[in-house]
Amino acid sequence: MYTTLLVQIENGTCIITINRPDKLNALNKTVITELSAAVDTVYSNNEIKSAIITGAGAKAFVAGADISEFLELNAAQGEELARRGQQLVFDKIENCPKPIVAAVNGFALGGGCELALSCHFIYASENAKFGQPEVNLGLIPGYGGTQRLTQLVGKNRSMELIMTGNMLSAQEAMSYGIVNKVMTAEELLPKTKETLQLIQSKAPLAIKAVIESVNNFDHTQNGYDFEIKKFGECFATEDLKEGASAFLEKRKPVFKGK
Ligand code: COA
Repeated sequence: MYTTLLVQIENGTCIITINRPDKLNALNKTVITELSAAVDTVYSNNEIKSAIITGAGAKAFVAGADISEFLELNAAQGEELARRGQQLVFDKIENCPKPIVAAVNGFALGGGCELALSCHFIYASENAKFGQPEVNLGLIPGYGGTQRLTQLVGKNRSMELIMTGNMLSAQEAMSYGIVNKVMTAEELLPKTKETLQLIQSKAPLAIKAVIESVNNFDHTQNGYDFEIKKFGECFATEDLKEGASAFLEKRKPVFKGK
C-alpha cells in the first residue's frame, strides 16, 4: 500500500497520482521510494500497457523536491539524493518500454518539472506552470533538468530558465516545445487517456522500439545505426507479420506483443 500515491489501473492505463496536496505534492524520500515501486509495477505487470503521472489537487503537479529535507544534507548526501532519485525514478520512467505521459495540472517546478520532462511526453492544463527555481535556494536542478531541458528547448532557453528561475505558462511551455497540448483542467485526464488508448492499439514491441530509438537520439551516426538495428528487430516479431498482413487484407490488426 502506498501512503503518498494513488494508483489505479483503467483500461490498461496505470494512473499514478502523487498525493500530498497540502505540500503541493513535493517529492520527499517516501514519494521517491513509492514512485520507484509504482514504475516497477508498470514495467512488470502485464495488465498495464501505459501510464499517466499526475498530481492530486487543483494547484500542483509537483512543486519540487521537498525543501524541508535539504537543510541537514552535506555534499556527499546531496549527491546521493540526486543519484538515488535519478536511478530509482527519473531514468526508469524515461526508459520504460511502455508509454508514460505526464498530465501536468498546476505547478511543475524543480523536481516536478524534471519529473514531467522524464516522461515520454507532456500534456498540460491551462493553469500549469513550469520552471526550475533551484537557484533561488542556492541549488541547481539535480534530477536531470540541466540535461533533459537543454535537449528539449536548446541551450540558450535552458540557460535563461534555469538562471532566472522564472516560470513559464502552459502556453509558453507549449511554444518552447515542452508541452504537446494545452487543455482545460477537466479535459486533461480524459484526453491523456484517449491518446494512450490510441497508442495501446499499436504493436507493443514497436512502441518499445520507438521509445528506445528516440531516447537514443544522437547527433552522430550512432543514433541512425541504433534505429536501423531496432527497425531490423521488428522483423523478428509476429506483430509485424500481423500488421503488414492486416493492411494488405484491409482489416484491423490484432497485436499480441510478440
Ligand atoms: N518542498 C516542501 N514544501 C513545499 C514545497 C517544496 N518544494 N513547495 C510547497 N511546499 C509547501 C509549503 O511549504 C506550504 O506548506 P505549509 O502550508 O505547511 O506552510 C504548502 O506546500 C503550500 O505552499 P505555499 O508556498 O503556501 O503555496 P503558494 O501558493 O503561496 O506558493 C509556490 C506556491 C509553488 C510558488 C511555492 O510553494 C513555492 O515556491 N514552492 C517551492 C518551489 C521550489 O522552489 N521548488 C524547487 C525545489 S528544489
